[in-house]
Amino acid sequence: MGLKNYLITFVVLLPMSLADYTREMVCAMTMYPNGIELAWECEEHFHMMYCGGMYSPRDMLATRVQMYKEIGFVAFPRFRCGVAATLMAMNMTDYCREEPMMYAFPNWELNNATEPWSMVSVIDLQVDEKSVLWALDSGIMSSLCENPVIYSAPRLVSFCPISGKMLSRNGFTNLVCADSRLQFMEVENTEDGQTFVYISDAGTCALVVWNGEETRGFKVALPRDSTDYPLTKDVLYISLIRRDETGPILYFTYLHGTNMFYIRTCNIRSGRLIGSVVTVGMKPGPMLILGTDKASTMYLRLKSRPELFMWNTFRPFRPKSLILLERADMPFYSTQVMPGYKRLLWTLESNYNDYFNNTHDSIGPRAKLRPLFKFCDTNF
Ligand SMILES: *[C@@H]1O[C@H](CO)[C@@H](O)[C@H](O)[C@H]1NC(C)=O
Ligand SMILES: *[C@@H]1O[C@H](CO)[C@@H](O)[C@H](O)[C@H]1NC(C)=O
Ligand SMILES: *[C@@H]1O[C@H](CO)[C@@H](O)[C@H](O)[C@H]1NC(C)=O
Repeated sequence: MGLKNYLITFVVLLPMSLADYTREMVCAMTMYPNGIELAWECEEHFHMMYCGGMYSPRDMLATRVQMYKEIGFVAFPRFRCGVAATLMAMNMTDYCREEPMMYAFPNWELNNATEPWSMVSVIDLQVDEKSVLWALDSGIMSSLCENPVIYSAPRLVSFCPISGKMLSRNGFTNLVCADSRLQFMEVENTEDGQTFVYISDAGTCALVVWNGEETRGFKVALPRDSTDYPLTKDVLYISLIRRDETGPILYFTYLHGTNMFYIRTCNIRSGRLIGSVVTVGMKPGPMLILGTDKASTMYLRLKSRPELFMWNTFRPFRPKSLILLERADMPFYSTQVMPGYKRLLWTLESNYNDYFNNTHDSIGPRAKLRPLFKFCDTNF
């Protein structure tokens, strides 16, 4: 794809931000939200955590990010035991420091897994249109180690992103079973003022639907013939696309599934799934959904590939409609794209493959958060 196409894509995408930001500014905004610079309560706190084996920067991998105004919220799932805090915040105006200071959010107590009311392992985050921060907690500690510890059933917690006040906390004891593997979350604020949280359960090929106002939920099975339900353990991506003419729709696909599907969220909420699932098209290969612009554009990547694609969901789902935006630099792979600070689109990249394979080099896991467009690329 030539420079001209690249620029067209670019101008269409971010008309607001382009005028205001120079190449240098965007490059300078690249941040490395890692477990290295943490805001400890005091010296003793650090020593207790470090010497007690509860803090090891090499165990900490940032996997999900959401932004609210100038605050970046970062999920550090407790895949291994040395994750000091599973939900952290950073000040996005701190971008001149490559490794921003990370704060336990909302405090250290709620990140102490051994306390019954605190968060164990946050695996996904969303900030909704009502400015509520939602965190999905798997309840499992050291899930990549030989002896994972199940502290609680998966839970959904919500906070005020500014004050840090906890607004709700609900366990999913009755909505999950031994085979459940909750993975991703999307939040919809409906026109009648309700809040619905949709969570993918890859293990049972289902969605957990949570009504935030009524604080109750239910589970709906995705029709198996419409999911290419794989026999092996797989990842179930969901992606909420907001469109005026149909109302919000939830796209879903298994990483190794053949097709992309969608369903209107009004049909999910009423439990009418049979006959409502639409096959959008065949994927060019195993594909990850990285995120959306919180409107009608989706960002995608093929498994083990650094190229990041944009898809306008109004266009047919075909290879021709996938617009190449850029390639990540090795060993980084994008794991998420989200709109955020300064109205830019951001991408979170990491060497998560190395982390999961336990082959990470002496530096350990590295995550990089930066505005999506690679002005810094010398090829252009
Ligand atoms: C972020 O840092 C800026 C500049 O130091 C400061 O003015 C602002 O209050 C900070 N924001 C938060 C949420 O801490
Ligand atoms: C976590 O909570 C437990 C139980 O209250 C307490 O013994 C422990 O000191 C706390 N750990 C930290 C690091 O605060
Ligand atoms: C991680 O392990 C898997 C399976 O053994 C392999 O396919 C993949 O290439 C490995 N990734 C890296 C980055 O070494």
